[in-house]
Amino acid sequence: MDLFDVYSIWDVELVKAEGCYLYDSNGNKYLDLYGGHAVISIGHSHPKFVKSVRKQLKQLAFFTNSVINRQQQILAQKFGEISGYDNYSLFMCNSGAEANENALKLASFKTQKKKVLAFKDAFHGRTSGVVAVTDVPQYSSPYNYTDNVTFIPLNDVEQTEKELKSGKYCAVIIEGIQGVGGVKIPTDDFLHSLSSLCKLYDTTLILDEIQSGCGRTGKYFYHQYSGIKPDLITVAKGIGNGFPMAGVFISPEFKAVKGSLGTTFGGAHLASTAGIAVIEVMMEENLMENAVTTGDFLMKELSSFSQIKELRGKGLMIAIEMPEPVFEMRRKLLFDYKIFTGASSTNIIRLLPPLCITEYEAQYFIDAFKKVLTNVSLK
Ligand SMILES: Cc1ncc(COP(=O)(O)O)c(C=O)c1O
Repeated sequence: MDLFDVYSIWDVELVKAEGCYLYDSNGNKYLDLYGGHAVISIGHSHPKFVKSVRKQLKQLAFFTNSVINRQQQILAQKFGEISGYDNYSLFMCNSGAEANENALKLASFKTQKKKVLAFKDAFHGRTSGVVAVTDVPQYSSPYNYTDNVTFIPLNDVEQTEKELKSGKYCAVIIEGIQGVGGVKIPTDDFLHSLSSLCKLYDTTLILDEIQSGCGRTGKYFYHQYSGIKPDLITVAKGIGNGFPMAGVFISPEFKAVKGSLGTTFGGAHLASTAGIAVIEVMMEENLMENAVTTGDFLMKELSSFSQIKELRGKGLMIAIEMPEPVFEMRRKLLFDYKIFTGASSTNIIRLLPPLCITEYEAQYFIDAFKKVLTNVSLK
């Protein structure tokens, strides 16, 4: 059987990883500045993570959500501690798309309404419900089309109010920082207005922190810089450091109704153990503080390059927007300097390194970036 050929891939076969480094089948070592789309938070194959998962695997890997799961309870408690949302409750599932699906369902159950307000350039996942609130038309099939969704520009308070005052919206869904859309950041003022308008018009505010959460920007969630408290927050990617898992943080205003949500695998023993290990390592190694210091270092160094059209970011979520396509730069960074980077659209290099990246590793990237800029015609 062949693989269904839907991914553009680099000609690299990875066989091993450790910390911020990856190793290929030819013995080459690469610096990981992408973390496989922001998934690697505490570093590849962290010894504590490996030890916990291995121990749990020997003991009990899985049983469904029909029995008491102590690991999942501990995970909920630890999420409360690290995020400050200790009065919210937790629903565990398996992927970011599924977390957003469940959040939208909860919003619709609660308000008994069905329209959703989303933002231009938003990305919330690939399954039917959430691809409909994702602003990338080529990801949607005719089956996914719905007229329940309206897209408006990010940071536009007037348009937001104009829509919400119709009283028809069950939810507004917004990323903490737009990732796939190119690290576009909602302003604090906009988030405050959005939060007030949602309350005024009985609309659930869903913060998708799947990419911008898990400490990547220096706070556990990016929206915490503004001080707002959303009704629902979705998490995935970094919370499992490579173990596929996701969740929804649910405000006390929502009543749990038996059978209303469910999943076979979500939050099972092995997944929850992985999640607990990630939180413990983040706290023990002060990784949120490191996201700020190393992120600030990268931003300061990058700001000296006059060739960059625009630099955006917070902590270790950074977009380097160039005036022209960046494919050749990324190819050279990967094959000549052994550095993995990400992209957003054709002209943006996106950096989402593991949160344990050091200043030395950041400097290595800056030096390589400088060399690539001087000998690459951007086209
Ligand atoms: C902001 C955001 N939401 C949702 C998703 C979807 O997550 P998953 O691929 O785990 O379904 C992503 C993935 O890139 C994302 O960046």
